[in-house]
Amino acid sequence: MYKHLQERQAARPPVNVATLAKMKVDGEKIACLTAYDASFAELVDQSGADLVLVGDSLGMVIQGHDTTVPVTLDNVIYHCRAVAKGLYRPFLMADMPFMTYTSREQALANAVRLMQEGGAKMVKLEGGSGQVQVVEFLASHDIAVCAHLGLKPQSVHKVGGFRVQGREQEAAEQMKRDAKALESAGADIVLLECIPAALGAEITSELDVPVIGIGAGPDTDGQILVLYDVLDITTGRKPRFARNFMAGLDSPLAALTAYVEAVKSREYPAPEHCF
Ligand code: KIV
Repeated sequence: MYKHLQERQAARPPVNVATLAKMKVDGEKIACLTAYDASFAELVDQSGADLVLVGDSLGMVIQGHDTTVPVTLDNVIYHCRAVAKGLYRPFLMADMPFMTYTSREQALANAVRLMQEGGAKMVKLEGGSGQVQVVEFLASHDIAVCAHLGLKPQSVHKVGGFRVQGREQEAAEQMKRDAKALESAGADIVLLECIPAALGAEITSELDVPVIGIGAGPDTDGQILVLYDVLDITTGRKPRFARNFMAGLDSPLAALTAYVEAVKSREYPAPEHCF
């Protein structure tokens, strides 16, 4: 009865946490992208990306806000449900928006909504040592978790802008401790944003779980970029780590495929994309 599904599964087995863990062990780079709707999700799937994030960056690239702070859980669920419809192979992760994980119970209830209503398979939250108990609680309920360290856009008003994190020795040491603590608490992936390349390399080598970077240098286990930066749709000032993969190509699918190939072949990120 399910023969066609079994055949499809054998040809392109869907990515799961075990696949990602094996890629780290095998030294195969993990290519990740954000997506916000079903049409782009289909293209991202065809490009060969391994992991897709419905990021709260949707507040900036879709809703036109200056930060991710106004994004609500319902917003992420809405976009995640659309993305889930377009994806087959990549693993689907959804962001927990600002103030949706202030206690263990709130985090669990909201993660369940992202999974049941949005179709997410993993949730991502921003945080350091303050989130260890939340991560532990989610993991104890068998929810796959990604812990986001470094530049945490939801903290932009507290930090005073979008700036590189972990440049000072003490901040770098603290980030290493946080990454270790989050891994021990049960995080399945750690994501590092906007940190010096050397620190990205150190944290990646110290952790057993896969580390995905964005502006964290070439040595993390994988890379993620915001879809609209890859396709050069974003207007205004681009982050240093962004690269326009549309240059010289004539279709979004060609650009997304070029991004995946550049990550896999270690051609991206180049030194000019690193701190
Ligand atoms: O919201 C987002 O898109 C993200 C990525 C920048 C990693 O968190």
